[in-house]
Amino acid sequence: MKSFPAKPWLLPQPVLIIGTYDKEGRPNAMNAAWGGTWDAKEIVISLSNHATTDNLEAKGEFTVTFATTDTLVAADYVGLVSAKKEPKKIEKTGWTIEKAEHVDAPVFTDFPITLECRVKKTLDKSATGFYLIGEIVNILCDEKFIGADGQPDVEKMHLITYDPVHFGYIELGKRVGQAFGDGNKLK
Ligand SMILES: Cc1cc2nc3c(=O)[nH]c(=O)nc-3n(C[C@H](O)[C@H](O)[C@H](O)COP(=O)(O)O)c2cc1C
Repeated sequence: MKSFPAKPWLLPQPVLIIGTYDKEGRPNAMNAAWGGTWDAKEIVISLSNHATTDNLEAKGEFTVTFATTDTLVAADYVGLVSAKKEPKKIEKTGWTIEKAEHVDAPVFTDFPITLECRVKKTLDKSATGFYLIGEIVNILCDEKFIGADGQPDVEKMHLITYDPVHFGYIELGKRVGQAFGDGNKLK
């Protein structure tokens, strides 16, 4: 085994796109890889200070969607450029925007599935950032990605994962097993 010093190499990492409105109702989006599940209906995202965090403070509501191969370039762009510096940031993504059904935040309809979230609490707030705990209040899935069983078909979505080793994006592949099932073979 080769050793490496400690790095944020939890694998695989998501490519979350956080959608918010600013005080004037202008939409924004940012890319976040440092996020995951916090509880059954809650997520956690590690955030430094951004236009997005100002918006979260103003509105207390946001959306989270997951980048895909088709949305990759603009998903990376919203992680490189701040709305604080580029007023046309969202225009440049070319994404289509609708207001979310249950929260005051934008839904980018170019993505297959979106979590509508409310800020539940923030943890360890400091000058450099905080951990955002968000409550999922509703989930919107494009009909195109609903499978025969009436549930979202994740395999169809061409989601991408962030590779923190080489700063890459990798498309998720095919379904290879049944969770809470295949392990039974070894019982
Ligand atoms: C792949 C990638 C992952 C990122 N992950 C995070 C993250 O987990 N937390 C964070 O605070 N910023 C993260 N960023 C940086 C923000 O997306 C970036 O600063 C963005 O421009 C903020 O936009 P805003 O100021 O318009 O809100 C990431 C950027 C990229 C490209």
